[in-house]
Amino acid sequence: MFCELTPVGDSLRVTKGQFQCDVFHPFDVFGFDSGTSALAAAIIAVKESAQQIAEPEVIVPGYTCPDVLSACQFAGVKVKLIDFEENLPFINLSKLLDTVNSSTIAVIAINFLGIPERIIDIKRTLSKTNVVVIEDSAQGMPLGNVDNYWKGDLVTLSFGRGKPLGLLGGGAVLKSKSSKFEVENSNVVNESALAKTKYLLKRSIIKVLSIPAFYFWVTKLPFLKLGETKYKKLIEINPLSEIIASRLSSAIVGYQSLDDHQDELHKMISQHKDKGLIDFYSLIPSDIGHVIRYPVLLPSEQKRDELYTELQSKGLGASKMYQKSLIEFSDIPNDLILGESDLENAKSFARRLITLACHNGVTKRHLDAMNHCISQVF
Ligand SMILES: Cc1ncc(COP(=O)(O)O)c(C=O)c1O
Repeated sequence: MFCELTPVGDSLRVTKGQFQCDVFHPFDVFGFDSGTSALAAAIIAVKESAQQIAEPEVIVPGYTCPDVLSACQFAGVKVKLIDFEENLPFINLSKLLDTVNSSTIAVIAINFLGIPERIIDIKRTLSKTNVVVIEDSAQGMPLGNVDNYWKGDLVTLSFGRGKPLGLLGGGAVLKSKSSKFEVENSNVVNESALAKTKYLLKRSIIKVLSIPAFYFWVTKLPFLKLGETKYKKLIEINPLSEIIASRLSSAIVGYQSLDDHQDELHKMISQHKDKGLIDFYSLIPSDIGHVIRYPVLLPSEQKRDELYTELQSKGLGASKMYQKSLIEFSDIPNDLILGESDLENAKSFARRLITLACHNGVTKRHLDAMNHCISQVF
């Protein structure tokens, strides 16, 4: 006992190399200091291409990371929230056209933990408008062919902690060679020797603290407030550091060779289907991508909390993610979100979601213990 799995894997053996501009070929890559900065830069690029619109608006799903709102605020656009489909991490397509108006410049379509949004369907729905689709793939990274995976007009990535590449920082905007958008760059910047040493030290410390025997004690430190997500204002956007850029290729290779336990977790959840557990296995493009946490919807918030407590007591790396819809976060600027949207499905999703650890550190013993916890609760 006294061990706790981390909710997301962080055990990549990443080595330094040359930054290769074609790392996401055939896309052009524009590096930034975070995924939030990259998203802000993508929104600014779209805004610049629609200068005739006085007060530009973007559409954002009602449930996602509040950093998406920080990027919108920095880019100087207003936000219209849109509900999810029932029991799905996808924008409600039947409400999309009603949410668009003459000031809408973009929809931000979120890749949820490695489950890509339905970009082609969104584009088809918007085909008679000039609305651009920005695909926020902070949480999703392909295992192989990138243009089979990313289909947005612009794509944004995060290389931060808890994300697929786990490089502790950085992000990027990807655009196709034929794209009309001008992304403000952002070259890769060289850091001082001291900054490099600090980065390597931080990586080593995080690696050690991610070992279950240490992570258990980390989760007990109340001031760290692990698992709590807050709205943070974005103050400035900066280029990608060379320290991160030079590790991208190696991190991608490492990510592609990770175990994901998706099949075992799917089999496990399927055994409990009659109890109302829903997973999203059929939406994971298993041939070209995997999820960074395995999401499961429970029949009620109460059952979700009971299962979470059970899994936590056994140190199995469960998480409840954001736990609320974007409108329920405090500190969001009053004038950022326009109007009142019905976010019933997004709110229900937030309250019933649990994620199971599915990274390299998960063993058969952990999977059996997870299964046992589910049986205990139902
Ligand atoms: C969907 C999504 N977009 C953007 C971001 C921001 O990325 P970063 O933490 O690199 O700023 C996150 C971070 O969790 C995210 O989940």
